Amino acid sequence: MASIFDPTKFGDIELSNRIVMAPLTRNRSPKAIPNNLNVTYYEQRATAGLIITEGTPVTQQGQGYADVPGLYLPQAIEGWKKVTEAVHRKGGKIVTQIWHVGRVSHVSLQPNGAAPVAPSAIPAGGKTYILNPDGSGAFADTSHPRALETSEIAGIVNDFAKGARAAIDAGFDGVELHGANGYLIDQFLKLGANQRTDEYGGSIENRARFVLEVVDAVTKEIGAGRVGIRLSPVTPANGVSDPNPQAVFNYVVEQLGPRGLSFIHVVEGATGGDRAFFQGDKPFDYQELKSVYRKAGGTGGWLVNNGYDRESAIEAVESGYADAVAFGKLFLANPDLVQRFRDNAPLNEADKSTFYGGGAKGYTDYPVLEAVA
Ligand SMILES: Cc1cc2nc3c(=O)[nH]c(=O)nc-3n(C[C@H](O)[C@H](O)[C@H](O)COP(=O)(O)O)c2cc1C
Repeated sequence: MASIFDPTKFGDIELSNRIVMAPLTRNRSPKAIPNNLNVTYYEQRATAGLIITEGTPVTQQGQGYADVPGLYLPQAIEGWKKVTEAVHRKGGKIVTQIWHVGRVSHVSLQPNGAAPVAPSAIPAGGKTYILNPDGSGAFADTSHPRALETSEIAGIVNDFAKGARAAIDAGFDGVELHGANGYLIDQFLKLGANQRTDEYGGSIENRARFVLEVVDAVTKEIGAGRVGIRLSPVTPANGVSDPNPQAVFNYVVEQLGPRGLSFIHVVEGATGGDRAFFQGDKPFDYQELKSVYRKAGGTGGWLVNNGYDRESAIEAVESGYADAVAFGKLFLANPDLVQRFRDNAPLNEADKSTFYGGGAKGYTDYPVLEAVA
């Protein structure tokens, strides 16, 4: 029986424990370049079995929020190198979540003020985070997107591959493809956002074509053992919906099975909300999803997320339901989460007012346990 404190291996990546830091956008990297404050933040959390960084756009077109660090500028690669070196010096492992937001963006963040791109010209609704002319941050409605031409899609697939290469150049142990939470990959998968009539829309096979092309391009570039993917079959985040998510995601993981990925990261339910939330006509069966993946030859780590705490994570790993558990808010507020779980120590509360944007407050100033003399 495995424990959350036991080491494991996800493809080529060795984890010292099964307590993973979930990707968390923090909007503290002006001009899309990681800085010394970001280095401190990640270094503080290096005892995680694996850190998955905040979403990191592979191009400016893939950017949807102000002050998130990217992977498309040479200075950003240099900035990330400092992060990965600091985490490695502390014995940690770190992958970056490579991201294209698709329609969840604002013209002020796009190259030449262009409309954000999407599978179909259907707005996401909801808000994104932009900069005012005076440099302060503000929430704003997402802009109306335009539908991608079929001929443009191969270029975006290639942008993901270039992003993965840049991540390896920056010293990351691998990448997580952001296939979750209503961003571009998820937009292609789900009918509510994808009304295309070409080979990227319509049937499940067609809607899954984009994600599989991205997976193939990225694994060809850096090797499948360093590539994981995050999926959120039923989340309504950023306005996505699908009438039959079980069929869509069973198909996706069946196709991923033989591709040798490092890990599959599943956000269960509504991201940041109810884990039992579902779309379609019946509750989503995550065990079925995992068994479809394993039957298709999938050997990657099965990583779960959303609302887990110490007890439910121990149960998930000990029962064999998951290989590891990712924690968002708990890792945000507890840099030494692994130690606190070991000691069953009290946890700091996350301060929501400092989630997005700002400086050290609510970022690098959460207290750690006193070292035992
Ligand atoms: C401040 C904040 C930023 C987030 N940014 C991302 C992100 O960049 N990429 C992503 O896939 N999920 C993101 N999420 C979702 C988390 O990774 C996670 O799925 C969610 O917080 C639920 O897990 P938890 O209950 O352990 O916090 C974010 C959540 C929060 C609270």
